[in-house]
Amino acid sequence: MEQIFPGVVRLTFGTPETDTPSRQIYVKPPRAEALAALPPAEFPFGAESIRFRTAARGCRLELPLTPAEDVYGLGLNLKRLRHTGKKRTLRVNSDPATDTGDSHAPCPVYFSTAGYGVLVDTARYASFYCGGNELLNAEAKQETDGKIRLTEAELYAAGARSSAPMVIDIPAARGVDLYLFAGPTLLDAVRRYVLYSGGGALPPEWGLGCHYRACGTFNEEQVLALARELREKHIPCDILGLEPGWHTHAYSCSFVWSKERFPEPEKLLQELQENHFRVNLWEHAFTHPEAPFHGELKPYSGDFKVWNGLVPDFTLGEARKAFGEYHAEQLTRRGVSSFKLDECDNSDFISTPWSFPECSEFPSGHDGETMHSMFGCLYMEVIDRACREAGIRTCGLVRCAHAFAAPQPFVLYSDLYDHAEFIRGVTTCGFSGLLWTPEFRHATSPEDYIRRLQAMVLSPAMLLNIWMMPNPPWRQLVRERNVENEFYPPEEQERLETLTREALELRMRFLPYLYAAFAAYHFEGTPPCRALAMDFPEDKRLREVDYAWLAGERLLVVPFRAGMSELTMPLPPGVWCDFRTGERHSGEVTLKPELGELPILVRENSVIPLADPVEFVENGMQYQLTLRVYGSAPEPARLFADDGWSFDYEDAAVPAWGTVDADGTLSAGLGKRYSVKAVERL
Ligand code: GAL
Repeated sequence: MEQIFPGVVRLTFGTPETDTPSRQIYVKPPRAEALAALPPAEFPFGAESIRFRTAARGCRLELPLTPAEDVYGLGLNLKRLRHTGKKRTLRVNSDPATDTGDSHAPCPVYFSTAGYGVLVDTARYASFYCGGNELLNAEAKQETDGKIRLTEAELYAAGARSSAPMVIDIPAARGVDLYLFAGPTLLDAVRRYVLYSGGGALPPEWGLGCHYRACGTFNEEQVLALARELREKHIPCDILGLEPGWHTHAYSCSFVWSKERFPEPEKLLQELQENHFRVNLWEHAFTHPEAPFHGELKPYSGDFKVWNGLVPDFTLGEARKAFGEYHAEQLTRRGVSSFKLDECDNSDFISTPWSFPECSEFPSGHDGETMHSMFGCLYMEVIDRACREAGIRTCGLVRCAHAFAAPQPFVLYSDLYDHAEFIRGVTTCGFSGLLWTPEFRHATSPEDYIRRLQAMVLSPAMLLNIWMMPNPPWRQLVRERNVENEFYPPEEQERLETLTREALELRMRFLPYLYAAFAAYHFEGTPPCRALAMDFPEDKRLREVDYAWLAGERLLVVPFRAGMSELTMPLPPGVWCDFRTGERHSGEVTLKPELGELPILVRENSVIPLADPVEFVENGMQYQLTLRVYGSAPEPARLFADDGWSFDYEDAAVPAWGTVDADGTLSAGLGKRYSVKAVERL
């Protein structure tokens, strides 16, 4: 047992494997000073109460859990927020059909409402039995009441909250390292995990702006026409994404511009840049024979192909060099600012499964199982470096992540589309140092559209992924009709265009607030979007709230879905004010928003800085702020004031924090980036 930082302990059991997450090149140095600044805390149980054994199938750990504790974390989970009493098998999978733990981003780290966290340093598809399975010789046994029950749920729930431990089954391994993160609070434990991972990602300001992805079959002219239309219609957009059609060959990828569709990529990139778009390119890592670096990569690839492409062994320097240098030379240095790293997860459950098998062999010695777990993180690292080579502080999209991903400036997304699940995803990610966007693709009705846009306003990314539709959504939301150029009548198009602009502008108004929330993620480990249970674990009414989250220090957002007209929900302790009217609520609130309204509540005594919405951000620009002041004793708002663009924040001796108070007074150093034009007291 070794205390490695205040409140962070490493325990080694047996002989750990060599291909585990903590040993990978993407793992960043811990933020030692910030870890030391957290309040002192003891871990609630000692090493002696953890049991470890090995068997032919691998190894097993048992950790204490008390009946009062609830368990969170284990990665992105679209099906459930709280894992207490459940079995979770952490398999990387892009189409999880059931509530089993499968995920784009499973993470072997869990947190308890008792105020601690546990990271199991394994890339195996480990199973976590979160307190549902009692051991025969457990010391403290609880009798069930013995009653006969009629429904399946009642029958089997009868014994679920006994003193069953956390049991972790790790296939193949003969030993494992555990990292324990102390609190004292649940949020502090999460902070320790994030800080130990190197701190959360701080995207450039443009990375928090609006992202529009063009139709996958578009050519250069169509992309430019779309870009012009967005600017003409004043639809905010910072990032313009190109989907597979930019390659000569996608599935697998050639990484070469298609001459047919994109004859003059330099000109395209230049025009987009001049019009303040950052370009994001879609790709996956499976490398087609046409890719110029295919030959160089081949010896450093796995022994199965995917879609006729090589699977790079990114744990090897040679593979990273071949792939990364090409990206730097041919793409990032020529004006591409970010990437969408697709299909780095895995799929077994769809009609045409793809990706490499778990029994694959890689030249480094990794097998397909450990490679699947870490593939997304390795891939993010290679691409982040290729951007850094060109001086670009990037922010991209990714479809797979795992432990230690917190510092990577990439946001998870999915092909799944259930709106309630997409919203739940935001509430689960914070517990594992991950970012997730409930992206928009198409809609069944204007209500579905507007609600889906609103759900992204205070999420990690505002992403209109229109890759399947040739026309902007406000012209036709239903995919089949959009493809046929069947449009709404002009007045309806105009109404939808206005509603789109309003939702995107609301995002842009929150940009300084969100940027400060991400700076707090980076420097202090506080996730920008947090389930209510993370900040208020003692309030049992909040433990299953998976439809609302805390955004930054002061806001609680409750996105509505199509078909919802009213919602009564429990509120965290204290007084919460309606964002628009200032109306005060405590205990619980009933929300009945109009279609154009996203329900947001503000902690009493807050100053919320709102920027005049811009269509795109500019390097070092100054935001014009209107302050909304709630309550009679408002605390100043924190703002972060680096240039929002370069890497200077990483080396600055003192982070560029500042405050603005309810009178509009900015602290020293903020004036260059922020100016207060009005104060509104609600
Ligand atoms: C999917 C991805 C979509 C889109 C599509 C293009 O795998 O999730 O967002 O990029 O590929 O073929």
